Amino acid sequence: MATESPATRRVQVAEHPRLLKLKEMFNSKFGSIPKFYVRAPGRVNIIGEHIDYCGYSVLPMAVEQDVLIAVEPVKTYALQLANTNPLYPDFSTSANNIQIDKTKPLWHNYFLCGLKGIQEHFGLSNLTGMNCLVDGNIPPSSGLSSSSALVCCAGLVTLTVLGRNLSKVELAEICAKSERYIGTEGGGMDQSISFLAEEGTAKLIEFSPLRATDVKLPSGAVFVIANSCVEMNKAATSHFNIRVMECRLAAKLLAKYKSLQWDKVLRLEEVQAKLGISLEEMLLVTEDALHPEPYNPEEICRCLGISLEELRTQILSPNTQDVLIFKLYQRAKHVYSEAARALQFKKICEEAPENMVQLLGELMNQSHMSCRDMYECSCPELDQLVDICRKFGAQGSRLTGAGWGGCTVSIVPADKLPSFLANVHKAYYQRSDGSLAPEKQSLFATKPGGGALVFLEA
Ligand code: GLA
Repeated sequence: MATESPATRRVQVAEHPRLLKLKEMFNSKFGSIPKFYVRAPGRVNIIGEHIDYCGYSVLPMAVEQDVLIAVEPVKTYALQLANTNPLYPDFSTSANNIQIDKTKPLWHNYFLCGLKGIQEHFGLSNLTGMNCLVDGNIPPSSGLSSSSALVCCAGLVTLTVLGRNLSKVELAEICAKSERYIGTEGGGMDQSISFLAEEGTAKLIEFSPLRATDVKLPSGAVFVIANSCVEMNKAATSHFNIRVMECRLAAKLLAKYKSLQWDKVLRLEEVQAKLGISLEEMLLVTEDALHPEPYNPEEICRCLGISLEELRTQILSPNTQDVLIFKLYQRAKHVYSEAARALQFKKICEEAPENMVQLLGELMNQSHMSCRDMYECSCPELDQLVDICRKFGAQGSRLTGAGWGGCTVSIVPADKLPSFLANVHKAYYQRSDGSLAPEKQSLFATKPGGGALVFLEA
């Protein structure tokens, strides 16, 4: 399993309307026929939010929405990218000189991240060029990982053009690392599930070493995704990186408090592992060691015995160096409690007690509360949407993905699905003020989908 590579499937393109349309558009754009196609799915995280970059296990599943790329390698070094969506302009560059501009999260930069990751992994300075036409149907900036799907798809495209082989695990690790060229300090959840997903099962994703274990979701319930229609692009603001840095600082202060070698510690999980205690005990240590009042940079420096300059240049990321307030207690409480909830969720799925849907729903509700109050990554629209979802029959509902906008995920008893969809639609999307852009509205039941694949025309 850990050594398995992404599958290659032979398909009759004429029988797959999306592939066929892509082939035709490719032909009119580049005047030739694609040599192969790659798909990589988006994901919905069921539980375990903002804990992957702290070292803790998360529980996502792939959705059927994906990024699909038609590819033709060319003999020059020119890389030409086009998108079926006219909102995303064409881009071309030399495959020998990949520059990723961190100041603006432009769509093609995500492709370049995947390409650069593979290029660097093999230590190649010369890459052959290619023509690529990208088609995505994951709603962008909605917490369903459209950007990581593009990075992963581009990584697999590049690997295939090079005719090389890597395992799904290696690809996931390379793409998680290379997406950071865009400037966000994400964990590895999105890229891992995009490669390691299998149809019909959610996965518990564990890190260091990366592995994925099947989690069988209850058959009597359906997972429903609803878009709040508030856009959140985590690369366009510093919210996301501030949280990553708050967790890093909390880990260092906790380690120092417990007389561990704090300067090497980066993640909250490392503190727990070094102390060899349970997550519940880590919550108690957090209560003793940290205070709920926000910390300012001076206090953090005093606690760690370092200068402001050292804090800025050796610990903080470039876009968080001027932050004046860090909430360490709240972030650590969220992370340790959320890590415990993700593990409990898996345990309940395995033991399958009679009231499992209710128990799983409660964990999802607690997760939302903690994201809202302790991690402060919700927003009024998401809070309103989860309330509406619960009111119309969800046993549990929570924001999914980075938050501050984007989607919710709800667990809904299967027999309530039709009325749930109708009522949520009416209550959230058919507002009298008509303020929600129709093209962003999406409310759909989802099933665990498969991972990234290469298609060859049969
Ligand atoms: C983004 C990141 C992930 C993860 C989630 C929050 O999707 O890319 O690594 O941190 O946010 O759970």
